[in-house]
Amino acid sequence: MSALHLDPPLPPDELRARLHAGALVVFSPRPSTAALCAWARELIAQAFAPLDPLTAQHDLPVERFVEVCAPLKPRFIHHPRTRELLKAMMADLRLDPDTTYLDVPRLRMVTSHGYLTAGVGYAHHPHRDTWYSAPMAQLNWWLPLWEMDATSAVAFHPRHWEVPVPNDSSEFDYYEWNAVGRAQAAKHVTSDTRKQPRPLEPPALQPELRPVVPPGGVVLFSGAQLHSTAPNTTGRTRYSIDVRTVDLRDLLEGRGAPNVDSRPRGTSLRDFRRMSDDAPVPDEVVARYDSGRPADGVLVFRPNAEERLGLA
Ligand SMILES: [Fe+2]
Repeated sequence: MSALHLDPPLPPDELRARLHAGALVVFSPRPSTAALCAWARELIAQAFAPLDPLTAQHDLPVERFVEVCAPLKPRFIHHPRTRELLKAMMADLRLDPDTTYLDVPRLRMVTSHGYLTAGVGYAHHPHRDTWYSAPMAQLNWWLPLWEMDATSAVAFHPRHWEVPVPNDSSEFDYYEWNAVGRAQAAKHVTSDTRKQPRPLEPPALQPELRPVVPPGGVVLFSGAQLHSTAPNTTGRTRYSIDVRTVDLRDLLEGRGAPNVDSRPRGTSLRDFRRMSDDAPVPDEVVARYDSGRPADGVLVFRPNAEERLGLA
C-alpha cells in the first residue's frame, strides 16, 4: 500500500508498522532536523571554500571534485557532533533510545547532468536496500541539505512494493562487499564497476513518487521500498544525508516489510549501534538474520588507513 503520511501524529510503534506496510512518511523541518542539516552544510561549505558547493562542479575538474568530497564524507560520518545531532533528532521524533539502533549516517552528493556518476557520487539505480543485506525491519531517513525539486529527488516506485523485481541479489554477499566493494569507492570516477545487485529486467518505474521537501524536512521509508536517484538536471549539485535505523523489538518479533524478492547473503545488522549507549545489536539477534559468511569476508566495514584519509 503506498500511503503518504505528512507529520503523522502516530505512536512510534504504529508509525513503524505503517512503514513496514509500505507507507512513506514526510516530516516537516523542525529545530532538531534543521540543526543536523546546518552542521552538514557547514562542513560542506568549509570543504569547498571559496567556491559555492552547489555550483563548484562547474569550476572544478571532476578529479578535483572527488578529492574535495572524498575526505568530507568520513569527516561528517565519524564526527562526534554528527552522532549527537542525529540522536537529538531521533529523540525529538520520539524514537525509543533503548530499542533504536542507528547505522552511521551517509553524506551524498548527486551532481547535475552526470558530471560525476560513479564512486563517491554514485547515482543509485532502482534497488531495495534489502538487496544489499539490510534487514527487512530497516527504516531509511533521507534529508536534503539545500532547496531541491523533483529533478533532484529520491524516486519511489511503489508498484513494486508487492510485485517482485527479478534481480541478482542472490549473488550479493555483504561480507564480500565489505572486504572489496566499499573500500574502492573513490577509485571509481568515470565508471563504477563494483558488483551491486541490480534488476535483471526493467522494473515498472511508473507510477513514480518523488517527495520534494524543504531543507530540514525528512523522508522516512522502509528499506524494502524500490527507489532510485532521479537524474539531476538542476544545474546544481544535490547534497543529502541519510541514515538507517532498526528497532530491536521488530527484530525480536520478526516484524518488517514483506520480502518479495531479496535474497542476499549476510546481514548489515552488525553496523548498527544503540541510540542510548552505542551498544551493538546482541549477537543472538544478529545470528537469526545471518545467512553465513565466506571464509575471506569481512563482517563489519572498517575503513583502512586509505579510507580514513578520504580516498574511499
Ligand atoms: Fe537505497
